[in-house]
Amino acid sequence: MSDSLTLRRPDDWHLHLRDGAMLRAVLPETARHFARAIIMPNLVPPVVTGAQASDYRDRILDALPAGMQFQPLMTLYLTEETDPDDLAAAHASGLVTSVKLYPAGATTNSASGVSDFDKVRPVLERMAEIGCPLCVHGEVVDADIDIFDREAVFIDRVLDPIRRATPGLRVVMEHITTKTAAAYVRAHEKDLGATITTHHLVINRNHILVGGIKPHYYCLPVAKREEHRLALRAAATSGDARFFLGTDSAPHTDAAKLQPCGCAGCFTATNTLSILAEVFEQDGALDRLEAFAALNGPAFYGLPPNEETITLTKGAPVSYPDHIATDEGPVTVFDPMMPLHWRVS
Ligand code: DOR
Ligand code: ZN
Repeated sequence: MSDSLTLRRPDDWHLHLRDGAMLRAVLPETARHFARAIIMPNLVPPVVTGAQASDYRDRILDALPAGMQFQPLMTLYLTEETDPDDLAAAHASGLVTSVKLYPAGATTNSASGVSDFDKVRPVLERMAEIGCPLCVHGEVVDADIDIFDREAVFIDRVLDPIRRATPGLRVVMEHITTKTAAAYVRAHEKDLGATITTHHLVINRNHILVGGIKPHYYCLPVAKREEHRLALRAAATSGDARFFLGTDSAPHTDAAKLQPCGCAGCFTATNTLSILAEVFEQDGALDRLEAFAALNGPAFYGLPPNEETITLTKGAPVSYPDHIATDEGPVTVFDPMMPLHWRVS
């Protein structure tokens, strides 16, 4: 195997950039390696309207250091009050790439999400008509459902009914964490894709809980059993065009993570490509890294892959900072618990 690997410049199909000081600190970590990213709208308040998405896009571009190239692909946060006309106009103008569905209460800043799925039916039908994809945080939040079962139950109770009721709606199951979700995607040829994060290829639930609680491995959906991690690795490294990279890199300050009730999120923007190269090499699939990180996502979204390339080279283990500094406080970089030999040159 060669010690150098050149790929089309990758994109991140699920990213949290936040706002203000945090945005300024984390944006270069992504823009250094990635050409484009789907930008999550779960700010406080959330990005609900086309006008809000336009303002947020301007703030992102303002925060981009001189000399860096990066295209934010904006999303709208679906609420029970979302106006289908506003969304259609924002999509037609090219401002908005997709819409994000958070079940109310599922995760960070999801209080304005959807509780009654019938209320968003007109929006979903409009999206199917205009070809605007729906990015789904696929977890039910009912108190009687075990947190480790939330994703599988969501598929049965919410996702499958929505897809049946809305033919032609293109759906991305975001950050899948189970073999159940990977199998559901595989079983449905049409209008369905899934993003997989870097961290869910590396950790299982033991890493969060064994030998003391590890807040920096806590994210949502929470990592599951080892058999699920292995199923995600098989999906990501398969080359199957329905699976693509969405890091869900989600910065929180250490002060917010290291609490009696700490925030969910792993910050992986800084070292994602080194980790992915290591994972794909371990699984004998380095030749499929480009499909996962740079080809399958654009194909799903109907966008051309990037023309530029990046080159990864293999050598002595690369070291990354333990944390990045922000004006709000340090943000810990995800620790993959293994030496990383591939660096972006
Ligand atoms: O771990 C997570 N962090 N999962 C999410 O769905 C949201 C994200 C965040 O915004 O921090
Ligand atoms: Zn996310």
